[in-house]
Amino acid sequence: MGSLRTVLDVRDLRVYYRTLAGIVRAVDEVSFTVGEAEVLGLAGESGCGKSTLGYSLLGLVPPPGRIEGGNVLIDGIDVTKLSEDELRRIRWSKVSMVFQGAMNVLNPVYTVEKQLVEVLTFHKGFSRREAVKSAVEALVQVGLNPELLKRYPHELSGGMKQRVVIAMALLLKPKLVIADEPTTALDVVIQAQIMNLLKKIKTEEKTSMIFITHDLSIIAEISDKVAIMYAGKVVELGSSEEIFNNPKHPYTQGLLRSIPRLGYKGKITWIPGVPPDLRRPPIGCRFNPRCPYVMDICRHKEPPTIEMGGEHRVACWLHTKK
Ligand SMILES: Nc1ncnc2c1ncn2[C@@H]1O[C@H](COP(=O)(O)OP(=O)(O)OP(=O)(O)O)[C@@H](O)[C@H]1O
Ligand code: SF4
Ligand SMILES: [Mg+2]
Repeated sequence: MGSLRTVLDVRDLRVYYRTLAGIVRAVDEVSFTVGEAEVLGLAGESGCGKSTLGYSLLGLVPPPGRIEGGNVLIDGIDVTKLSEDELRRIRWSKVSMVFQGAMNVLNPVYTVEKQLVEVLTFHKGFSRREAVKSAVEALVQVGLNPELLKRYPHELSGGMKQRVVIAMALLLKPKLVIADEPTTALDVVIQAQIMNLLKKIKTEEKTSMIFITHDLSIIAEISDKVAIMYAGKVVELGSSEEIFNNPKHPYTQGLLRSIPRLGYKGKITWIPGVPPDLRRPPIGCRFNPRCPYVMDICRHKEPPTIEMGGEHRVACWLHTKK
């Protein structure tokens, strides 16, 4: 895992929404890397900052949000330092995103062909004929009949639309694809098909991916490593094996107990309490009001990140050397 060429290097990233009601610290001092052909699963409860983190990697944080600090290096280029023009050039070509609720991202008044061709002519300067040829290949790659090019989004099923959106994200063969809840709105059969498609792309195209979901059981299927996010922070990161077989953070342990797993004999429980308001996160460890192991120090001092060997690290006072 450690020897892969680094495609994405995120360092101390902070992304805040400055609202009238206060500053929402949606991503707060987050660091991680993704290697070539590696899939990072990013999991955590609703509102913990997963999508905001995804947007920031493309320089697309919606106002009133913005990157307040840190660096995002994609193939060595710091995205946080680029102008809007420069960002437009790397979006889709170096890094692309399958947006959450992506099926609604397709423009309803354009055919699939027009939407794919536009991306190709803008970025590659392709002639129409070349662009259509590439669009056909893109649909075939995601298992769709090229005849669908002539259709409008409303003439496609949910699963077809999701494949078109994935085809679009892959169109310019980016180094890194961020897939934000790509299967959430789909029924289980289509969900399985999309997962197989993403796995195929990972192996065949060597694309690096960040796979965002609140559902850890999906993450287990595709990820090489996993980052667990809580209230704007990555509280634990490690290989899939480390996270699923040897979770160290009480929040990760709680999340794992809350998913039904094949062969798991223990009781399925949910973590009591609700995630905090990110305008006023708890002092100390942000998980402290919900943590079954909370200690005095957790209520006033933020836990340091502890290296657990390999890439495994955890931010929790339980693991500091006594
Ligand atoms: N445009 C905005 N203005 C102000 N706050 C925002 C905005 N967008 C998101 N937030 C806040 O930022 C935090 C992170 O939101 P984000 O959408 O990144 O979470 P998420 O983990 O993707 O959640 P979900 O699982 O529901 O998709 C939340 O507290 C949210 O309320
Ligand atoms: S630092 Fe303290 S409150 Fe936070 S997860 Fe660890 S034990 Fe629980
Ligand atoms: Mg989201």
